[in-house]
Amino acid sequence: MPIHFDKESRVFHLSNERISYVLQLVKTGVPAHVYWGRKVKDGQLATLIPYQERSSFSPNPFAEDRTVSFDALPLEYPVYGTGDFRHPAYQVQLPNGSTITEAVYRTHRIYAGKPQLEELPATYVEQDGEATTLELDLVDEQAGLSITLIYTIFEQLDVIARSVRFANEGGGNLKLLTALSAGVDFRTSDYEMVHLAGAWANERHMQRRQLAPGLQSIGSSRGSSSHNHNPFVALLQNGADEDHGDVYGFSLVYSGNFTAQVEVEQYGTTRVTMGINPFDFSWLLEPGESFQTPEAVLVYSAEGLGGMSRTYHRLYRTRLCRGEFRDKSRPILVNNWEATYFNFNADKIEQIAKAGSELGIELFVLDDGWFGKRDKDNSSLGDWVVDRAKLPGGLDDLAQRVRNLDMQFGLWFEPEMVSPDSDLYRKNPDWCLHVPDRRRTEGRQQLILDFSRPEVCEAIRTMVADILRSAPITYVKWDMNRNMTEIGSAALPAERQRETAHRYMLGLYSVLEQLTSEFPHILFESCSGGGGRFDPGMLYYMPQTWTSDNTDAISRLHIQYGTSLVYPISSMGAHVSAVPNHQVHRMTSLEMRGLVAMSGNFGYELDLTKFTEEERTLVKQQVEQYKAFRPLAQFGDFYRLRSPFEGNEAAWMFVSEDKSEAAVFYFRVLAQPNAPFAWLRLKGLLPEADYALAGEEAEAAVYGGDHLMYAGLQVPRLTGDYQGHMWHFKRK
Ligand code: DGJ
Repeated sequence: MPIHFDKESRVFHLSNERISYVLQLVKTGVPAHVYWGRKVKDGQLATLIPYQERSSFSPNPFAEDRTVSFDALPLEYPVYGTGDFRHPAYQVQLPNGSTITEAVYRTHRIYAGKPQLEELPATYVEQDGEATTLELDLVDEQAGLSITLIYTIFEQLDVIARSVRFANEGGGNLKLLTALSAGVDFRTSDYEMVHLAGAWANERHMQRRQLAPGLQSIGSSRGSSSHNHNPFVALLQNGADEDHGDVYGFSLVYSGNFTAQVEVEQYGTTRVTMGINPFDFSWLLEPGESFQTPEAVLVYSAEGLGGMSRTYHRLYRTRLCRGEFRDKSRPILVNNWEATYFNFNADKIEQIAKAGSELGIELFVLDDGWFGKRDKDNSSLGDWVVDRAKLPGGLDDLAQRVRNLDMQFGLWFEPEMVSPDSDLYRKNPDWCLHVPDRRRTEGRQQLILDFSRPEVCEAIRTMVADILRSAPITYVKWDMNRNMTEIGSAALPAERQRETAHRYMLGLYSVLEQLTSEFPHILFESCSGGGGRFDPGMLYYMPQTWTSDNTDAISRLHIQYGTSLVYPISSMGAHVSAVPNHQVHRMTSLEMRGLVAMSGNFGYELDLTKFTEEERTLVKQQVEQYKAFRPLAQFGDFYRLRSPFEGNEAAWMFVSEDKSEAAVFYFRVLAQPNAPFAWLRLKGLLPEADYALAGEEAEAAVYGGDHLMYAGLQVPRLTGDYQGHMWHFKRK
């Protein structure tokens, strides 16, 4: 049984073939954290919790037993106020104003499968045999508070999914002040912390630092997961690296404000907690009501960061993403944003699409500017009515013209926004997030619709659905271009104002659930000024995300490498754009831009009609090359070979699940005079198999898997800055 409860020691042991996660109900009835890591046998596990008398500054719940103190115990879901002085996982305010609660064991259930989380995205199983779940009920009788800790262990993946359900079983109101999704207390602090930080056009840069005493935390209070910090953190046991050592990943399936805290305290232990950011949050639970937290996905890898990433990739690709496109290859697209910005008409669009179709591109995406009177970014959001001045025949006509070129047609929306200069705003000025009598701070001259209100969600859902029904649209880019300010809702009472940001997420998720169910044949791609909401919550509804507004190939080496720590390659939109690059003004070759974009969901974002004959030939080759290895890029295992954060090079590779095919990408940023030979040791191949280079060289070049992995592959001589090379191997 993957979850075993030993009645005598009151130990719960969650395990699969490779990992164990162990907790124990200690004397007071609270669950303590015992162990998480490589699989261990049952027996003596409880001895892993050390008891020792400390000073009087570590208080004791049992006066006569000074060896027990919450200040020193490793806990599963800690609370503040009864002796644990570290940051808590929850805090609840009672009708008398106090915040002291102590929820202890009441009962538990163990069952095959995994529950769906009410109103929230989460990982799932297709058969009950894929996972086992423990629900541990804790209760504070006096407060009428029940807390259910939910743990699911997957059979084939080294994953523990955790979340928490709060319920008010008493007669008075309870207020959740902190309600995190998970906490783990590690016994030592000899770890490095890895996380992803950045800014708009510079997202998800890998950060790595040694833990130090005190709190090191990341988070967002921007109303979305943000460009600045991703809802992910990992601890690496000292000495662990890309391929070796213990790594513990935490990833939150949520798209709103979050926190991830890592706290090293006096006894040299480390507490990791993750969940909705308690800052500016509270949630009123009236008698009989309940609250479900988002899911935290915990991954253990004994094979370094690479092993952790491959587990997240497989889980998120196959058991978080849903719908038809989960297992379908994604079309190569051309998007008109950087080609035309707002300056286009139907003929121009048709010309770009025609050029794309001749090059083998499969989908045309019409970006911002097709609706209302949107010739600049300062108006019309909310007025989802086609602009006949630009598209006289309407969307249906344009989509048909594109389809006649044997291409699919896709469309951009920014449904969560409203421009003050729009009919929607003039009609419903209180439909945006705002606080009475305060300024409504604008970003890109737009405000955010109050998706915490069901009637607002319904109105927007109807408008979007009407458009989607009006033309043969097979792809939607769902954008969101600002962060929240004056977060408040005209529809909520005073005591519920701090629920607005989370209610917004619930509203958004419900709209996305409805639209993606109603239009299962549409491929949805999420976007928030690029990667401002590149998180597992959005992936549940939309299997791909526009990785960054920065399309410069060199910047993308970092952005895509960082993103790959958690997110599958099939989730990353990557386009070849024009040079000088529009964001950083760098000149790079079309070859280099092609190779970087092929390391994601491939596409173009430039005016294809402006290519020279030579460029057209090269682009045709790129499109064919990508089609030949697309299944590998989208469904293969990903191995990072060289980090752009550590030097002048980057390299990565893809290996098919059956190891019969591999593609290797190498990039060198700046030219080096009289450079040393460059070698790449490949990963993930079968040592005993032989691999031939696909294409013309096939007969000449056959390498042993052992040769490629142990001796390495020599990188050809590259000249000039910003160079790349790709190899495609097939098993002989
Ligand atoms: C931000 C997106 O990231 C871009 O790709 C583009 O769609 C613009 N918005 C359009 O306003």
